[in-house]
Amino acid sequence: MYLWWIVKLTKDARFSTLCLHAGQEPDPTTGAIITPIYQTSTYVQDALGRHKGYEYARTQNPTREALERNVAAIEGGLQGFAFASGMAAIGAVATLLKAGDHVVVSDNTYGGTFRLFDKVLRKYALSFSYVDTADLAATERAFTPETRMLFVETPTNPIMRITDLAAAAALAKRHNARLVVDNTFASPCLQRPLEFGADIVVHSTTKYLNGHSDSVGGIVIAVKTDDIEWLRFVQNAEGAILSPFDSWLVLRGTKTLALRMAQHNANGLALAQFLDGHPKVKKVYYPGLPSHPQHALAARQMRGFGGMLAFDLGTLASARTLLNSVRLHALAESLGGVESLISHPATMTHASVPADKRQALGITDGLVRISAGVEDVDDLKDDLTQALDRV
Ligand SMILES: Cc1ncc(COP(=O)(O)O)c(C=O)c1O
Repeated sequence: MYLWWIVKLTKDARFSTLCLHAGQEPDPTTGAIITPIYQTSTYVQDALGRHKGYEYARTQNPTREALERNVAAIEGGLQGFAFASGMAAIGAVATLLKAGDHVVVSDNTYGGTFRLFDKVLRKYALSFSYVDTADLAATERAFTPETRMLFVETPTNPIMRITDLAAAAALAKRHNARLVVDNTFASPCLQRPLEFGADIVVHSTTKYLNGHSDSVGGIVIAVKTDDIEWLRFVQNAEGAILSPFDSWLVLRGTKTLALRMAQHNANGLALAQFLDGHPKVKKVYYPGLPSHPQHALAARQMRGFGGMLAFDLGTLASARTLLNSVRLHALAESLGGVESLISHPATMTHASVPADKRQALGITDGLVRISAGVEDVDDLKDDLTQALDRV
């Protein structure tokens, strides 16, 4: 399924080779090895009705197209569509639905996704049920005859619950619904949902795909002809496209995805083990720990456990002291960049989730989330040690 024919890649090219080369050719004008930033709004036509395949930059842009081919290849999909943000990408996927349709969604989905579904799309006669998609029986019970989409995040943010992707795909298929997976947390380096039978993958490229905390974007990867045709139409019709410069940044980012993810994995695991053994830490959430309830499933469907982890310090006061004491970990929302970030889900990323729902999801006031960057892990441990000493 890889788009290996776009450049001189063999059909058997491996993941890191695809990351570097898929979807890109030396620039036809100069031979530049890096796809240029085609910063143009329009294209001059040779004669009336004769052009080079490019008419207007909302519709076609070579830099964006290179990125779309690249991410489609590394996700094992057929076509990518890049958008101005992860939320714009998810909004475009939602246009595959029509009034009256019902969607089953991971209950711990990203807050912005919940906000889009709950505050915007319900106005258009779509309905949503939120369920722990790690529990397949409960997920199936949430289906109705109108269910046309199962929207899954795995691992979830910040509690790192894992959904069995092959089982979720089979369930969606039985009910004539699409399985859409938000693969932002894992990245295609660690998990490729299309290989398990998912129909569509979405990403906030803002996170691991770009990887350098300097661009906001999103991408949708599809495999079915009808979905591809519709998404191409909607990308142009709604116009929430990724800019040429951002496309170029993300394309540069994916070149090092495999390298970066190896370090994120190593640092994530080392920090999880370190925190797990620390007397002031009540609980650690990381799928790479054997104590994680779905460790075996994560090991089966992921190639590494990633750089995201969360831990509970018991109280808001302890969490606050830690967050105000770290020096190397930056106190910030977002994730997936080369720099380590630390955050307080209850008051930051999940502040809009009602307190009782937060509690039910395990997002306590003492919970702290880390996006482990690629620094030397001993420096990260030293930073956490000095901050935990103050708790
Ligand atoms: C899992 C997940 N999906 C989607 C989004 C939305 O992406 P963006 O902020 O690029 O719109 C985010 C943002 O944090 C996210 O974490």
